[in-house]
Amino acid sequence: MTLPSHGSNPHYVYQSARIEKPDRVIDFSVNVNPFGAPTIIRERWQSWFSYVEDYPDPLASELKQKLSILNDIQEDCLLIGNGGAELITLVAQFLRGKRILIIQPSFSEYEQACFAQNCCVEHHVLQEGNWALGLNELLPKVKLFDGIFLCTPNNPTGVVYDCQAVMELVQEGKREGCYIIIDEAFYDFTTDNHSYINLIKQYPNLIILRSLTKMFAIAGLRLGYGAANPSVMEKLAALKPHWSVNAIAMKAGLECILQDSYIQHTKQHIADERKRLELVYQSNGFQMSKSEVNFYLLKDPQLEDAAPLFHFLLKKGIVPRHTMNFPGLNGRWLRFAVKKKKENNLLMEALLEWKKYN
Ligand SMILES: Cc1ncc(COP(=O)(O)O)c(C=O)c1O
Repeated sequence: MTLPSHGSNPHYVYQSARIEKPDRVIDFSVNVNPFGAPTIIRERWQSWFSYVEDYPDPLASELKQKLSILNDIQEDCLLIGNGGAELITLVAQFLRGKRILIIQPSFSEYEQACFAQNCCVEHHVLQEGNWALGLNELLPKVKLFDGIFLCTPNNPTGVVYDCQAVMELVQEGKREGCYIIIDEAFYDFTTDNHSYINLIKQYPNLIILRSLTKMFAIAGLRLGYGAANPSVMEKLAALKPHWSVNAIAMKAGLECILQDSYIQHTKQHIADERKRLELVYQSNGFQMSKSEVNFYLLKDPQLEDAAPLFHFLLKKGIVPRHTMNFPGLNGRWLRFAVKKKKENNLLMEALLEWKKYN
């Protein structure tokens, strides 16, 4: 049985697990805003129809300009992409054939994209449970690599790495000529919004990746961006397919970045729900990762492998994300998105039922 390497598209999970898909499923494997896309997207949708007829702006100038103001960085430090995923692919192309280190467990696309570019990939696997960066082991490795991928807040743990430790990594990278790629796809779900984006001015070895598909639930539209020193950005831009970002995604992006109250409401909901879930899990013998975002890892410490719990939930129409393809997790944990209250309640009920009989 080979399970899909990503969350979402639950019919593939049922297919490969050979479990009949119930009529109603709740997909906890996808980490997008549980409130869906901002209302303004639906309201404007019809008026955007005319944009399907012409080619999109290949430079995404308007969006780039707005993002440069929002992030207080120069426009030539930015590149708009077809989702954060396209930026990951471009970075891998930029580092083609080089030595790459991935801080694990983390998003599987880094490895996938680097393999496709014949990079020599190694993993720095963090200690399970607290997933601290472990600088004593990590820093001496920096000189051995051309690029290091770090995701913070990290997918799949939800953990935000210690800021001082990340800074030391970035500084060591600069000294040793190693690019540090920080994926901030989920930074806007944290309550403090901490970001490393402004450091690109001082650190030409730093590349920041951002996604708009998570907070704004526009995963089907695809939109993300990267930020780095203009000389790096120029090289990444040269690798990008000319019209890879569609016109509607750009229009949606321009609206999304103005949605302050939607962002605040989402963050508050996520923080409250995560706390509520945590209390229930703690008092019922589950182990939960110290997440600061809209998903978390969960483990039943009685199980060596989470597969029986995974199957139990699938049969109930609850779709977790398995962790079999995350180095350092190897299927022992399951990842769940924080959804709306009603859905989170259904998940808790199912987990308590599991505990009752196992
Ligand atoms: C850590 C991380 N980075 C990037 C991406 C890609 O996001 P996008 O939908 O913007 O391509 C994902 C998607 O799941 C992700 O989890």
